[in-house]
Amino acid sequence: MREFIIDTDTASDDAAALMIAAFSPDIEILGVTAVAGNVDVRQAADNALMTLEVCGSDAPVYLGAPRPLVRERRETISVHGKDGMGDGDLIRPIKKPAKKRAVDFILDTVAKYPDEVEIVVLGPATNIATAILTDRETMRRVKRIWSMGTPGFGIGNATPVAEFNVYIDAEAYAVMLDSGIPVTIIGFDMCAGEIGLDRDELAALAAGNKAGRFLEKATKVLLQFNLDTRGAHMVDLPDAVAIAAAVWPDYVTSSVACHCHCCTEDNETYGQVLFYQKGRTYESMPAIRDYTAEVVTRVSEQSFTERFMKLLLK
Ligand code: BDR
Ligand code: CA
Repeated sequence: MREFIIDTDTASDDAAALMIAAFSPDIEILGVTAVAGNVDVRQAADNALMTLEVCGSDAPVYLGAPRPLVRERRETISVHGKDGMGDGDLIRPIKKPAKKRAVDFILDTVAKYPDEVEIVVLGPATNIATAILTDRETMRRVKRIWSMGTPGFGIGNATPVAEFNVYIDAEAYAVMLDSGIPVTIIGFDMCAGEIGLDRDELAALAAGNKAGRFLEKATKVLLQFNLDTRGAHMVDLPDAVAIAAAVWPDYVTSSVACHCHCCTEDNETYGQVLFYQKGRTYESMPAIRDYTAEVVTRVSEQSFTERFMKLLLK
């Protein structure tokens, strides 16, 4: 059994990611930690709770950071709707967030299961950075972080050089990257384009089971956004693609070892992440200390949709 903590600013694609973990028999979700990003932190926690409830998962949800580490919270236009879940008033979750703070839960859990816990980061890295700044030694015992963040080797979706999760809290992302914890980065380049669910797959979800119907409704605003902006009748699910890389080892077909630097200067580069590729960089550059990041460069698109549909509609 693999032990996961899932850190999320739960919107519709985060919900799809939670579903993959909840339905995978070899994954134990020790807890879900909510963070402000797509929506405020309470809404994120509620969205996570309702998703887990629909999946029949008992995993606890903890409230985390209501705002970024250093900066004020930016008002963002969410492509997932005001509530992050398609504004369809889906369900009211039965459970409430647990009492413990997200950071305490993360630190206690890593201390309890040293070198075993994998953290999947699907939103701004504020909770993870706070845990690192609170107790760096304990966080060094995290087995691996799986991060949906950065444009990868493509173009940003928040600015030309920055991806949303990093752009919301670049200071936190920098702390995470500099911590020495092994991290696998699944950038927006791996999640954009055709990968996701098309008209037929969305129809199959709508005609399927409880989880399928829930997700189809939760992605309604995202679908409209894709129709309006690129005429595509499909939904892209970056966080689901990212967690797939963590859950299905053969799904990643290529990655490169990198040293990463996250830009936090208050200018156009804010949130940009530089990848110094092993073997393709002047090793003597002072900025390079280690290559603790694996940046995914190819995934198997077809197998994502097939496996995802099978898992959800089983
Ligand atoms: C990321 O931003 C959010 O909208 C998604 O949930 C995902 O985590 C993609 O850039
Ligand atoms: Ca997210």
